[in-house]
Amino acid sequence: MLPARNGARNNGPALADSLTILGIESSCDDTAAAIVRQVEGARPEIMSSQVFGQTDLHAAFGGVVPEIAARAHAEKLDFMVEAALKEADLNLSNVDAIAVTAGPGLIGGVMSGVMCAKGLAAGSGKPLVGVNHLAGHALTPRLTDGLEFPYLMLLVSGGHCQFLTVHSATKFTRLGGTIDDAPGEAFDKVAKLIGLPQPGGPEIERAALAGNTTRFNFPRPLLDRENCDMSFSGLKTAVLRARDSLIAEQSGLYQHDQADLAACFQIAVADVLAQKTQRALMAQEVTALAVAGGVAANKTIRAALETVAKEAGTTFTAPPLALCTDNAAMIAWAGLERFRLGKLDDMSLAARPRWPLDETASPMLGSGKKGAKA
Ligand code: KG4
Ligand code: ZN
Repeated sequence: MLPARNGARNNGPALADSLTILGIESSCDDTAAAIVRQVEGARPEIMSSQVFGQTDLHAAFGGVVPEIAARAHAEKLDFMVEAALKEADLNLSNVDAIAVTAGPGLIGGVMSGVMCAKGLAAGSGKPLVGVNHLAGHALTPRLTDGLEFPYLMLLVSGGHCQFLTVHSATKFTRLGGTIDDAPGEAFDKVAKLIGLPQPGGPEIERAALAGNTTRFNFPRPLLDRENCDMSFSGLKTAVLRARDSLIAEQSGLYQHDQADLAACFQIAVADVLAQKTQRALMAQEVTALAVAGGVAANKTIRAALETVAKEAGTTFTAPPLALCTDNAAMIAWAGLERFRLGKLDDMSLAARPRWPLDETASPMLGSGKKGAKA
């Protein structure tokens, strides 16, 4: 049974048994607000989704600058909420709850979002729901494809890399993850090393199209370990060494060298992700393999994962790219799932820079350029 609905859409009659949630996201370099509605028994609807990316603000610094990010979030959040309500043709009195990313992420940004959500909740009298950003990513396949629990989620972005078994909206088991760089971070660093612009992922993918995947035999780190942990930092160093010896030999890097380095790096990342995914799928019975995060846009990686899923006799799901990368619809949806379970917060909700989804798993090492890895 759904909790009672607090408001009605301003242009129509009250919908029985429907939930409308405003979501707010500001944990990294995207300021986002969105509204998701679910009428009981029907597929959820993303009524609006507004994302303001801060890439331009950080471009000159070669990474996200936390102070700049926090200030930009604080300045932009109100406008994004207003825009999301307008796009959905609603006002605040029509939403049932306000969901907000309460971590993990860059603390200044998370605090901006939490303070904004608390202000809206206090002003409107609507309930507040704190959402784990990773839960937002991990639950997205239920919003887009209606996946049933339990499923395996591979989260691969510029800040995250982990395998999660999603048992329910509140129970996640981390099977493994990177012990150093996230794959997107490695793509970005390698792009910089071989003279390609940022963000590096799409650039490497483009350059790799013309490359020879067998010219350099880059390492596949940690494949000898039986678990699902990964490492991408040594791979980056191997690319650096190959680049340096080419420069030493021929006094520079030709375009075909750039393409070959990109192709060999990309195939090494794809191999590692595919083999570790195979291991993660073997460890349990799941309904599907799902992937999310910016790196999930990579066609070579997607194809490798699709093959692994097929071989394991399971289905493969990748939400549309706009919902794979950071957005607030996933926060609204995760908030909706929590709200339905009665998991509400109050004004004591705190911003948490680190907040592992699986509190029982041992902490992961390192802190990425986009904040703490959880
Ligand atoms: O999920 P996302 O938009 O942001 C967070 O990290 O939170 O992921 C961005 C990362 C960047 O590192 C970017 O280089 C990488 O995803 N990326 C890709 C591709 N498109 C984006 N990596 C590999 N291939 C791509 N096509
Ligand atoms: Zn994210």
